[in-house]
Order: sequence, then C-alpha cells, then structure tokens
Amino acid sequence: MRKAVCPGSFDPVTNGHLDIIGRAAAQFDEVTVAVLINKRKASLFTVDERIEMLQEATAQHGNVVVDAFHGLLVDFCQERQITAIVKGLRAISDFDYELQMAQMNNRLTGVETFFVSTNPLYSYLSSSLVKEVATYGGDVRGLLPDKVYKQMKIKLDQA
Ligand code: PNS
Repeated sequence: MRKAVCPGSFDPVTNGHLDIIGRAAAQFDEVTVAVLINKRKASLFTVDERIEMLQEATAQHGNVVVDAFHGLLVDFCQERQITAIVKGLRAISDFDYELQMAQMNNRLTGVETFFVSTNPLYSYLSSSLVKEVATYGGDVRGLLPDKVYKQMKIKLDQA
C-alpha cells in the first residue's frame, strides 16, 4: 500500500489545502492529513476543532484519514509506514524552505517529498492571510469551506 502524509497547521483548512489533499488522494492508496500540535504557536482553533473540520471537509475521499502529531514529522511517518510527504508549492517563495525541509527529512529517514503545484486559483492563499483579512471584515467566502468560514467568523467575533 502506498501511503502519503499531508502535514500542516491547518488553522483553519482552506480550499488550497483541500485541493492538494484531493490530488494526493488520487495518487496514493491512503493519505493521512497530519495536524501539527505546536504548543509554542498561538492558534485560532484547537487541534480537535481542526481535526473535526478536516474530517468533514475530506469525507468524500474514502482513502483520507486525519490525525495529529507532535515532534518530528519523519517519526510520525515511520510509526505508520508512510513513505511519502505531499506538499503544495504556491510560489517560488515557498520553495527555499520546502526544499530545505524535504532534504532534511530525506536525510533523516529516507522519506520522499512530492511537491504538487498549487492550483493558480489558490496560489496567494494561506490560513494566516485568510484570518487576517477576515479579522478586519474582508470577504473571504469561497476560499475555505462554508462551514469552516462560519466557524472562523464566530471565533473572530468572540476574540
Ligand atoms: O502549515 P505549516 O505550519 O506551514 O506546516 C509546517 C509543517 C507542519 C509541515 C512543518 O513545520 C513540520 O513538518 N513540522 C514538524 C516538525 C519537524 O519535523 N521539523 C523538522 C522539519 S525538517
């Protein structure tokens, strides 16, 4: 079985993430979406909320599972016999850091990283930008699932 992981913070999941996850699911037998537990970074959504939103948003793919991890991604992969990491590349600005991580991860355990070119519709999209724009009242509908958008608005209104 060919297994891949799509790792990230997913705070919250965007349509750009979902595009990459769906395309990975078409290429691999099983795709694990792995939410990073990062206690040092402030987040809008809890890890459990992010997992729930991802599960709902990926429910149409029979071969996608959602999980959380802390520590090194390569350890998470080894524990689950996952041999591939799938990442979206939005622009050249993503490349330097992504290449560095891919090379380090390969050096650590031999895990391979596959880069998928982001759909141009989403090349400017990031969770942090969506949150920032929404915080100041900008319209980000259509850039993330409707339910996630509504949950985000509730959180931001509470803050
Ligand atoms: O959505 P993000 O925050 O850009 O995702 C970054 C992520 C989670 C993919 C990356 O930070 C990561 O893999 N973190 C796990 C810790 C780790 O393995 N670090 C060494 C990378 S070479």
